[in-house]
Amino acid sequence: DWNSGNVIAEQVARIQAQVGTGKVICGLSGGVDSAVAAALVHKAIGDQLVCVFVDHGLLRQDERRQVEEDYVKATGVRLVTVDVREQFLTALEGVSDPETKRKIIGREFIRTFEQAQAELIKEAAATDGDPIRFLVQGTLYPDVVESGGGSGTANIKSHHNVGGLPEDLQFELIEPLRTLFKDEVRAIGAELGLPAEIVQRQPFPGPGLGIRIVGSITQDRLDLLRHADAIVRAELTAAGLDREIWQCPVVLLADVRSVGVQGDGRTYGHPIVLRPVSSEDAMTADWTRLPYDLLARISNRITNEVDGVNRVVLDVTSKPPGTIEWE
Ligand code: XMP
Repeated sequence: DWNSGNVIAEQVARIQAQVGTGKVICGLSGGVDSAVAAALVHKAIGDQLVCVFVDHGLLRQDERRQVEEDYVKATGVRLVTVDVREQFLTALEGVSDPETKRKIIGREFIRTFEQAQAELIKEAAATDGDPIRFLVQGTLYPDVVESGGGSGTANIKSHHNVGGLPEDLQFELIEPLRTLFKDEVRAIGAELGLPAEIVQRQPFPGPGLGIRIVGSITQDRLDLLRHADAIVRAELTAAGLDREIWQCPVVLLADVRSVGVQGDGRTYGHPIVLRPVSSEDAMTADWTRLPYDLLARISNRITNEVDGVNRVVLDVTSKPPGTIEWE
């Protein structure tokens, strides 16, 4: 019968047998899967593992700190943070089409991770001649089924030829979550002592806040949205609704302005959209009937505390026809 302690012991033994004295790299996204996968690998082989976290500036408030401080403290992993906030802002300047945003973010993300990887590989090879040969991936059982089950190695192409590395770096994959479902992964994360804010995290899209600004992305707009999002998350958590809600995107309508009145002046600010949804698998969803007083509190706080926002609106569309995200 299923028991998280058994799975951990089994995976630790398996990883040790697979890796031997080799070196391993893992990208952390801030999400559950990569966090639990890396923690398992670290438990098995300690500092033969190095983790990479990309701060692209599209993260929510406190996410970087949770990884750099709470997660590192809980696991003891060696972590390298790559700060590419400026680079992403420049690449995204003036872009408002959703799919173009996704493409740029995906491209810049892979480029950043590969560069970090290339540097770590060189460094590892220089210290004791042993390069990094293994890559950890937080693949879950549903992902395996979806992609037809094949796996084994990953061919990471380095299109930009970073300092004398081979064209194609061959990695052997370590996928310790391949037989598990999401709730099992969370149970293992909890058993490993990972921070609750990571283990219980709701889904958050890879392109992050970048696809929650309807319009082009600027530093000011990101800061504004981050602030509003932090208020919503704090209030939902305080109301004890985190488990009940699948996720609650908070969206900034950056290209829309409406007239308001605040203090003794007229304002001309942006609306913030609340998109709380209930769902089993994100394929379909319904809008969550949040209590009115909670909605009132969130609305008051956002309009009082977030500069530039003078209106809060609630999205009452199911999926279909609406998607969960606005972009
Ligand atoms: P939609 O908006 O399609 O979202 O109803 C379904 C689920 O997928 C998430 N989502 C994404 N996740 N990259 C991701 O990693 C993306 O580009 C992306 N777009 C949507 C969304 O948050 C929801 O959980």
